[in-house]
Amino acid sequence: MSESAEPGAAGVRTSLRGVAAALALAWSTGWYLPVAFALLTLIQAVSPVVAAWLTKSVLDAITGEPAAGYVLGLGLGLAATGLVATVAPFASRYIVDEMSRRVGLLSQDRLFSAVERFTGLARFEDPAFLDRIRLAHQSGGETPTSVTSSVFSVIGALVTIGGFLVSLLVISPVMALVVLIAALPALFVELRLSRARAGMAWNLGPVERREFFFRDLLSNVQAAKEVRLFGAGPYLRGRMADDRRESNAQNRRMDQRGLSAQTLLGVLSAVVAGGGLVWAVLAAVEGRLTVGDLTLFVAAVGGVQGALTQLVQDITFAHNQLLMFDHYLKVVGTGPDLPVPARPRPVPALRKGIEFRGVWFRYSPEHPWVLRDVDLVIPHGESLGLVGRNGAGKSTFVKLLCRMYDPDRGAVLWDGVDLRDMDPAELRRRIGAVFQDYMEYDLTAAENIGLHRAR
Ligand SMILES: Nc1ncnc2c1ncn2[C@@H]1O[C@H](COP(=O)(O)OP(=O)(O)OP(=O)(O)O)[C@@H](O)[C@H]1O
Ligand SMILES: [Mg+2]
Repeated sequence: MSESAEPGAAGVRTSLRGVAAALALAWSTGWYLPVAFALLTLIQAVSPVVAAWLTKSVLDAITGEPAAGYVLGLGLGLAATGLVATVAPFASRYIVDEMSRRVGLLSQDRLFSAVERFTGLARFEDPAFLDRIRLAHQSGGETPTSVTSSVFSVIGALVTIGGFLVSLLVISPVMALVVLIAALPALFVELRLSRARAGMAWNLGPVERREFFFRDLLSNVQAAKEVRLFGAGPYLRGRMADDRRESNAQNRRMDQRGLSAQTLLGVLSAVVAGGGLVWAVLAAVEGRLTVGDLTLFVAAVGGVQGALTQLVQDITFAHNQLLMFDHYLKVVGTGPDLPVPARPRPVPALRKGIEFRGVWFRYSPEHPWVLRDVDLVIPHGESLGLVGRNGAGKSTFVKLLCRMYDPDRGAVLWDGVDLRDMDPAELRRRIGAVFQDYMEYDLTAAENIGLHRAR
C-alpha cells in the first residue's frame, strides 16, 4: 500500500474538508449542544468589551459631574458582566465535555465499522496502515469536539478583537493598526510549528509502536514464562527505554523550537503594548485623552493581544488536530480491501467440492511466491491432509480458501463459483477453521464458545 506519505502535506482544502466533517460529527450528537456552546462563547467574547466600556464610562462620570443613579447603574452593569464572565466558562466546559463523550462513542463506532469492512488480512499486516488506525482512533475521539470548540472560539476571539479594535480606532487608528500587524508573525510561526508537530507525530509512529511492543512483552502472561527463563527482562526494558528516549528527544527538540519562537513573539507584543502605554499616558497628561479613555485604551491593547493570542492558539491547535483527523477520515473513507461484486453470488452449502485452479500467490510484490500454479480438487465429503515443510504454504493455502487474500493469478472455486464473486461474510458462514496461531479471548468460557455465533 502507498499509505506512507506524511500528513504534513495536507493543504487548505483538506483542512476545510476536515473542519466540515468534524462539525458534522459534533452536530450529529444533538444540535442543542453546539448551539448552546456558540451562545456561551459569544457572551464570553462580548463581555470584556462591555466591561471596558462600562469602566470607561464610570471613570469619566465620576471625574465629571456624576448623577448617582447613572453611576450606580453602570456599577451594577459591571457586576453583572463580571458574574457572566465567571460562570460562562464553567458552563462551556461542561458542554464541551458532554459533546466530547458523545462524539467519542460515535466516532469510535464508525472507525471500527470501517475497519470491519476490511474483510482481508493484508491491511492488518501493513505497519503504516496500523499506525494510521492508531492515530485515527486517537484523533477521531478528540478532534470533532476540539475543532468545534476552536471554530467557535475563533469566532469569539474575532468578536472580541472587533469590539476592541473599534474602541482603539476611536482613540488612535494608528495604534489599532500596529497591534493588529504585530500579531501576524505569531499566526505564521505557530502554523509552521503546528505542521512540524504533526509531521513529527507521524514519524514517531514506528518508534511508539515498538515501545508498545516491548511494554506488552513485559506484561504479557504468554511472554512471562520465556522472559523469566531467559532472563530477557533487562534487555527488553533497555530496548523500551531506548525508544522512549528517542521519542522524548524529538519532542524536546520540537518544544525548544516552540519555546524560542514564542519567547520572541512574546517580546514583540510586550514592546507594542509598552510603547502604546507610554504614548497613551503622555496623551492623557497633555489632556488629549480622558482618564476613561486611558483605561479603555489599556483594556483594548491587552484585550486585542489576548484575543489574538487565543485566536492563533485556536487556529494552530485546530490545524494540528485536523492533520491528525485526516487519518480518521482516510480510514473511515477507505473502501473494502477485497472487492465485493455489486450483486454477490449466493453461497449455498457445498455439494461438489472446492477447486484451486492455477493459483499463484505472494504476500506482496516484494515477497517471493508462496503458491506457484497450484491445481487441486477437494471433493465434497472427503478429508484431506496437507503435509509440507515449515513455510511450504499450508496455512497460506487455508487462508486463501477462507478468502483472507485473493490469488494473484488463477482462482479458488466453490462448487465452480469463484470466491471473488461471493461476499466474504457469506462464505465464512460456511467455513470453520482453527489456525495454528489461534486467538484466546480474555472473555468468559461461554463467550469464547459463543463468539462464532455472535453475528
Ligand atoms: N503475512 C505474511 N507476510 C509475508 N510472508 C508471509 C506471511 N505469512 C506467511 N508468510 C511466508 O509465506 C510462506 C508460507 O507460509 P505458511 O505460513 O503458509 O507456511 P506453512 O506451510 O503453514 O508453515 P508451518 O508448517 O510453519 O505452519 C513462508 O515463507 C512464510 O514466511
Ligand atoms: Mg502453518
